[in-house]
This record gives sequence, C-alpha cells and structure tokens, in this order.
Amino acid sequence: MRFFTVSSYEELSRHAANLISAQVLMKPNCVLGLATGSSPVGTYRRLIEAYRAGDLDFSKVISVNLDEYLGLDGKNDQSYRYFMQTNLFDHINIDPANTFVPNGCADDIEAECVAYDQRIEDLGGIDLQLLGIGLDGHIGFNEPADYFEKGTHVVDLHESTIEANARFFAREEDVPKQAITMGMLPIMQAKKVLLIANGAAKKEIMQKAFYGPVTPEIPASILQLHPDVTVIYSEN
Ligand code: F6R
Repeated sequence: MRFFTVSSYEELSRHAANLISAQVLMKPNCVLGLATGSSPVGTYRRLIEAYRAGDLDFSKVISVNLDEYLGLDGKNDQSYRYFMQTNLFDHINIDPANTFVPNGCADDIEAECVAYDQRIEDLGGIDLQLLGIGLDGHIGFNEPADYFEKGTHVVDLHESTIEANARFFAREEDVPKQAITMGMLPIMQAKKVLLIANGAAKKEIMQKAFYGPVTPEIPASILQLHPDVTVIYSEN
C-alpha cells in the first residue's frame, strides 16, 4: 500500500487525477471504476481540464460506477447517474454507451444486481477503481456488517451515512434509505485501487481502516489485503 498524506484538497485532486490520467494513457480502452460524493469532484474537474487541453482521450474508456440510490432515476438531480453526467461524463468524450451506473429503478433489482456483476466480469474486470470512504468506513455503499458481501446487492444505509449525505438534499428525510452497490469482489479484483479522502473528520476512520485489523466492521480495511492500493489523504 502507498499512503500519501498531502496538504490540501487541491493537491489530493491533482495527484489522483494524475494517476487516473496515467491509467488512461497506458491503456486507452481501460475500465475505470468510478465513485461519486464530494471527494472525487476536484479529481474529475482536473480530468476534464486535461481532456480540454488535449492531453486525454476518453473515447475508448469504459466506466462502471460503484453505486446508486434505490428509487432514483438518472434524471433526478440527486441520483448518482446525474452526478456522473454533470461532474464528468458530459464534459469529456466518453461514449455514453460505455458508462455504467447501477439502475436504482430497475423493475427487478435482484436481476439488476446479477447483471451488473456479469457486466463487470464480461468487461474483464476493473483496471483502476477509484474510491472514497464513509465516516463509518464504508466503500461503495458496503456498510459495516458481520461479513464482506461479494456481489452487487441492495443495502440499507446506516444512519451516519444518511446524515452525512443529507447535505446534498433539501431535507434529511429526502435521503433514500437504501442503495444498490457493487460488492467487495470486483473492488478486490480491480488491478489497481485508488482511495481518496479529505477532512479532519475522516482522520480516525483512515487510521482504523488502513492500520487497524481487517474486519467487515470497517469495510475499507479489506483493502489492506489488496496488492496495489494507493491512498491519498488530506486533513484539510
Ligand atoms: C460514492 C460512494 C461512497 C462515498 C463515501 C464518501 O459513490 O461510493 O462510498 O465515496 O460515502 O463520500 P464523500 O466523498 O462525499 O465524503
């Protein structure tokens, strides 16, 4: 594991965007596993800048996102599909047909989960998985539990996750209580993992996740077992 402590969110974003750029340059048809939330916004902004400068070409890139709220369709401005469109996809030359986000409105959610895992497998797995981390140690929406869940599944969001995400909604009661999330298997099978986190509030969970015991009670701790993980943390 490479653990970088940097001094600002800007530095974190630059560093993360450089690593993703390197992946795209080395393998133009790579599969990127992408995350939403506040952590990757600066990284995506820098990737857009690199694309506009003519330094990056996303035309052959395939993306698979980690998660989606249950019951929100892509037109809902709180959905993760909408987030990805507005924060990245609409501003680069990625083929829309090559961008995958779990469908939180599928009629048959179980079938959607199975199909999502199959899609990742058919793509040959993920080359680089970008992750944030929740205050309770979740990655994707794999919340603390008694065991690590392997495949894509529906999850009840923990109270702390609902509270943390309430900042994106008009009222806390508007935050969906369930989500569909990629499980641990494709994350652990990703060739490279890049986890970014910022803010003093995440200092304790970062310590536990990367220097404490590996336990499903701190889902991100499983990354200690991954052979190629880069972590970038800024306290500011
Ligand atoms: C989002 C996701 C979540 C977030 C985590 C941190 O797709 O998978 O695990 O990465 O909740 O969110 P932020 O970055 O908003 O602190």
